[in-house]
Amino acid sequence: MERLDKRLAATGKWSRREARDLVRAGRVAVDGAVCRSPEQKVSEDAPVTVDGVSIGAHGPVYLMLHKPAGVVSSTDEPGARTVLDLLGEEYQNIGLFPAGRLDKDTEGLLLLTNDGPLAHRLLAPKSHVDKVYYVEVDGVLDQEDVEAVRRGVTLGDGYECLPGELELLSDNCAHITLREGKYHQVKRMLASRGKPVTYLKRVRFGPLELDGALPRGAWRPLTEEERKAIFSQ
Ligand code: URA
Repeated sequence: MERLDKRLAATGKWSRREARDLVRAGRVAVDGAVCRSPEQKVSEDAPVTVDGVSIGAHGPVYLMLHKPAGVVSSTDEPGARTVLDLLGEEYQNIGLFPAGRLDKDTEGLLLLTNDGPLAHRLLAPKSHVDKVYYVEVDGVLDQEDVEAVRRGVTLGDGYECLPGELELLSDNCAHITLREGKYHQVKRMLASRGKPVTYLKRVRFGPLELDGALPRGAWRPLTEEERKAIFSQ
């Protein structure tokens, strides 16, 4: 059993406050009967509707998180602070996981969802979803690095990266676009160029751009347009 406002907020469609307002406005029905009490406990399988439309059983949730450094992307690393720890209580037990991972010290855009098929599709190697990172290095980036990334860098273990793009922003800062997601890939690519990464932030994942209004550690549900965009990716 859980509170009605929590159940509504867990869909990712409304904030907890919006959910309370919907309930108080008489727009929410449980088991077919209008319920005006946000704190009403409802069972997991009780049918809930808003304006007569079912919200589904914990329907799919899509959140954009601005991951700060210092938290891990996995959901259950013992002793570590995880990205799920940044979310409210109502998001703890609905099967959310990050679609792709960022290193503990990497910041930026992470999509959290409980929609396995979508995440699977976005992460499948053949999907080649663009990921764009802002990167700072120890050293001076130059045109040779741009060319090397364009051709495809060979990593220390012999792996040949797919061609990417490096857009120089200043001597030691750039945007780098990759279409794959190997372990520590940006760090390993630039290390192989002799320019170790000192700061890394993901600013784009496919059609999703990190919302500049989200401070580190904050999150929000995807907008309708963003949802449509990831589904048509
Ligand atoms: N590449 C890295 O090296 N680290 C990340 O977190 C993401 C991409």
